[in-house]
Amino acid sequence: MAPGLTSATPPPHPSGRDLEDISDQIDAVNVLLSSPTRTAATTTTTEGSNPKSNFRQYVTASPQVKALYREQHEKQTVEYNLAARKAFHSSVRARMGIWEAMEKLNTLIDESDPDTSLSQIQHLLQTAEALRRDGKPKWMQVTGLIHDLGKLLFFFGAQGQWDVVGDTFPVGCAFDPCIILSDTFSQNPDSKHPIYSTEMGIYSPHCGLDNLLLSWGHDEYLYHVVKDQSLLPDEALAMIRYHSFYPWHREGAYRRFMNQKDWQMLEVVKEFNPYDLYSKSDAPPVVGELKVCR
Ligand SMILES: [Fe+2]
Ligand SMILES: [Fe+2]
Repeated sequence: MAPGLTSATPPPHPSGRDLEDISDQIDAVNVLLSSPTRTAATTTTTEGSNPKSNFRQYVTASPQVKALYREQHEKQTVEYNLAARKAFHSSVRARMGIWEAMEKLNTLIDESDPDTSLSQIQHLLQTAEALRRDGKPKWMQVTGLIHDLGKLLFFFGAQGQWDVVGDTFPVGCAFDPCIILSDTFSQNPDSKHPIYSTEMGIYSPHCGLDNLLLSWGHDEYLYHVVKDQSLLPDEALAMIRYHSFYPWHREGAYRRFMNQKDWQMLEVVKEFNPYDLYSKSDAPPVVGELKVCR
């Protein structure tokens, strides 16, 4: 199915269960931060940076989430990003269908903890079912079904959790203060780079988000797989690529890079976000029944 799904040795630690846990905790933080009860003082943009919000976010996050973001923000550099993209395009491909990929992701994560409460496959099915229940178009239901399959990256070449899950952001330009726990970027060498640390960095105004180097993780990985191997529309690609790009779709940062198409894509990414964040509260789907329906 995807480049990068190779015979490479999986990282010895952390386990799939650890990834599942940290992914759930990140989702929980984003649910809290997306809550309508948040005050204006907790929302920031590049245009309106507010140190209080970072403090609030830091308090909100668990120690595991803080540790993940600290490591991610220190290691997601332009140099790493370019190397990850090169590895993606030069790796040996494995091939599998969507259902097989879902089951593989589930197995790899569940094997370390058979008692997991809500599995990856259930999250994907719940997201797709919620979209179907609301009468969303089939391409959107399909995209909901596959949107997190890039987490397979964790088992095939990732360096850890930090280059698989977590909110995403561009590299090659200044790190926006509205990124969660943005103070931890101080240890990223790009934050002192003469070009990468500037507002425009290596980009030009309104160059389009497609041209940004987004931090490497499950969103970016799956985006490239689906862009090359499916007929899904641009809106679906945006849902996949930007679903963790909270500094953009929730906080309103990086508007300076947007072109006309990105404004249209922003609407669909925002439309999708509640299905990703809140479908976990629905009753767990019966996987066997839905598999028969395919
Ligand atoms: Fe995701
Ligand atoms: Fe998700």
